[in-house]
Amino acid sequence: MAPLKGITDALFRRVFTAHFSGIDVAVAPFINPQQNPRYPDKLVADLLPGHKCGIRLIPQILNTDAEGFISLGNRLYDLGYDEINWNLGCPVKMVAGKRRGSGLLPYPETIVELLERILPHLKPALSIKMRLGYRDHRESLALLPRLDSYPLASITVHARLGTQLYRGSVDLDHFQACRIATRHTLVYNGDLVSLDAFTRLAGRFDSVTHWMIGRGLLMNPFLPAQIKGYQSPDGERDERLHRFHDDLYRQLKVKLAGPGHLLGRMKQVWIYFSHAFPGREKQVKRIIRSTTETTYLNGVDTLFCR
Ligand SMILES: Cc1cc2nc3c(=O)[nH]c(=O)nc-3n(C[C@H](O)[C@H](O)[C@H](O)COP(=O)(O)O)c2cc1C
Repeated sequence: MAPLKGITDALFRRVFTAHFSGIDVAVAPFINPQQNPRYPDKLVADLLPGHKCGIRLIPQILNTDAEGFISLGNRLYDLGYDEINWNLGCPVKMVAGKRRGSGLLPYPETIVELLERILPHLKPALSIKMRLGYRDHRESLALLPRLDSYPLASITVHARLGTQLYRGSVDLDHFQACRIATRHTLVYNGDLVSLDAFTRLAGRFDSVTHWMIGRGLLMNPFLPAQIKGYQSPDGERDERLHRFHDDLYRQLKVKLAGPGHLLGRMKQVWIYFSHAFPGREKQVKRIIRSTTETTYLNGVDTLFCR
């Protein structure tokens, strides 16, 4: 499960894994180091042991200062996490402009210097999630060979540039170039939204054994199980999607303060979940346009009981 900030928090991970199978590991959305340099409990609240949901969880951090990186990493280790993930992929200008996330990719020297300072003091294992580059594919090709000598658990590559944000197509030729440029375990990420897409990618990258799925989990929640050949959901597909939706809605309603927050969060989910209902665009639009809980729930009823 890819990290999707604002969606795949502890509550979502618990609900999703209760309804759908096939996920082995989740990377949690990044912890923002700038919010509070002392990392009070609030910052790691979503990662406290009580939130565990039966699949392995890897917290993600966005730090670029060695001291903060080590202290947060070791705190997460003390909470029970044996691996943390370093976000070198975030494309948001406010982040990338400060040479964090994918904004650090044009500076391989800084990345290597940070690893030199961090790794001797870091208790958990470290993995990296990155893009093909921030502005240019050559950035990953310059960086990857330099990472070979460090003991990284894995490197996930989202096969886009940072400047693409989440738009445009993934670049499979450059992902292939990354595969050749590293000795580390490489995880594929980007636009895995159907079994067909997976079959094509798995055919092309036959040495890749780890796959990360983000938006595709909402577009087709059965996808991880389909990839593993577990089951065919056809008969009870709608009922299961309905039960998942209602469970998520109910639990978010308890957690979030007020209907505005609840509808806002659910609409964020529907941006991707809507793709699970081809041919029912009109009904989905009604849900997305709703402004009260009543109109929202009426819209959901109409969609599922057409
Ligand atoms: C709403 C949203 C939030 C995201 N939050 C994070 C994040 O916290 N950390 C991260 O590494 N990537 C984040 N990503 C990127 C995804 O993890 C993933 O790399 C990207 O969506 C491509 O994979 P997909 O096509 O399977 O979704 C986010 C993407 C979206 C759309």
